[in-house]
Amino acid sequence: VSTPSPPPESLIVDRLRAAGCVFAEEEARLLVAAPVDPAELESMVARRVAGQPLEHILGWAEFSGLRIRVAPGVFVPRRRTAFLALEAIALTAPGSVVLDLCCGSGALGAAVAAAVPGIELFASDIEPAAVACARDNLPTATVVEGDLFDSLPGSLRGRVDVLVCNTPYVPTDEIGMLPPEARDFEPRVTLDGGADGLDVQRRVAARASEWLATGGHVLVEVGAHQAAASAALFSAHGLAPRITSSDEHSATVVVATRA
Ligand SMILES: C[S@@+](CC[C@H](N)C(=O)[O-])C[C@H]1O[C@@H](n2cnc3c(N)ncnc32)[C@H](O)[C@@H]1O
Repeated sequence: VSTPSPPPESLIVDRLRAAGCVFAEEEARLLVAAPVDPAELESMVARRVAGQPLEHILGWAEFSGLRIRVAPGVFVPRRRTAFLALEAIALTAPGSVVLDLCCGSGALGAAVAAAVPGIELFASDIEPAAVACARDNLPTATVVEGDLFDSLPGSLRGRVDVLVCNTPYVPTDEIGMLPPEARDFEPRVTLDGGADGLDVQRRVAARASEWLATGGHVLVEVGAHQAAASAALFSAHGLAPRITSSDEHSATVVVATRA
């Protein structure tokens, strides 16, 4: 019995390009480099041609220089969110208590832990598949499953120095305009932020002070057009917000501080 030989990389590039993959060469290179047999490689290429996110097929995503495990059904960390990670890292010191809320794969917590030694890290998400990934990606953290703060240990109240929280923030009416990779393969709960995109942030803002240490910070990512409304949510709950953005990452972050 002969095993099929792998298709040449250039044929894979052609198939990916025909399927609309913008980075066909780069994707073909990553697929060919996966440690799989030719039949499995063919199945991976077919899944990509059918529109599945490359990261779900490979089982990992690159984020802030780290390889983060991402299983099907888990939100794929976006490149722009590296800016939120950098802003969180800038506010974190060795020994800080860090909470990655709405953690998904745990990419943000992993980036902060990789950059700042000796932090005490907690993470939480409502999706079981995300929690399983985060537990793999954050082996030294306490990772819990639940709605926002609900499953966190009560002893964490008033102790969080840095609360980093990439909530879903796409307005419901705009979900249909997302690329099919997101729309069809990422659970709606990972994307849908309600009518103005800020429903989850509204709930985080209402409860953040209860969990933050004095002088602690909460950081969220938003679209540029949502930044002022997001900042107002935090100031309405007694936190001092500022808005920061990065052209390089095409990203906007609101940082709100407990006085
Ligand atoms: C935009 S994704 C961000 C994931 C990850 N932090 C990242 O940046 O890659 C939002 C995450 O929030 C989670 N989520 C949505 N609503 C939630 C809630 N009420 N409580 C906890 N997690 C929630 C979703 O399951 C999803 O993993």
